[in-house]
Amino acid sequence: MSILVINGSLGGASGNTARALHALAAHLKTSVTVRHLATETLPTREELAQARGFIFSTGVYWDSWGSPLQKFWEAVTELEGDACWLGKPAACLVTMHSVGGKEVLSRLQGVLNTFGLYTPPMCALTYSLANHIALKDGAGSHADDLWSLGDLETVAKNLTIATQAPLLNWLSWPVDRANPQRIWLKDVST
Ligand SMILES: Cc1cc2nc3c(=O)[nH]c(=O)nc-3n(C[C@H](O)[C@H](O)[C@H](O)COP(=O)(O)O)c2cc1C
Repeated sequence: MSILVINGSLGGASGNTARALHALAAHLKTSVTVRHLATETLPTREELAQARGFIFSTGVYWDSWGSPLQKFWEAVTELEGDACWLGKPAACLVTMHSVGGKEVLSRLQGVLNTFGLYTPPMCALTYSLANHIALKDGAGSHADDLWSLGDLETVAKNLTIATQAPLLNWLSWPVDRANPQRIWLKDVST
């Protein structure tokens, strides 16, 4: 069971997201391949098809995910509903300083689901500088209600459970893969 980690952050292999991913991968007992989109080539369809599960990760940049991740979605648009994704589990990890990460996380899960993936329970979280500082200070009785790096063990375990379940024969509705960029506003002159 191999897991493909797609790091769509600006920081790439040396960033904060990569460090959080490292902590997550330490809890995985299966083969893990990490692709840092900021500096590395995009995974091919064959590489995506070989993965039994995914981890999508990014930092937050002006309330959005990283441009490497956006470029990836644009490049794989024709794979919407493709068997390389269909019914496979995907965990999500979003890092940030303080604000915007939950919105990015929720939108990311929406995109993943449209491609054909699903998020298992307790497999999507944000980790912020604000949480990091608060937890270092103890965070008092509120500590359990703050996402922590320790929660990554739960993410890893649930993702593992999901990858070990049989892959069901999910259906995809028809998808127009011809050319998503073609002009549809033909009755307005430029
Ligand atoms: C251009 C830029 C914009 C950022 N915008 C936000 C933001 O809107 N909200 C936030 O909480 N953090 C923001 N940050 C902080 C990053 O989300 C945070 O440091 C993240 O962990 C970076 O991950 P990386 O090092 O893997 O790129 C921003 C950082 C940069 C460089």
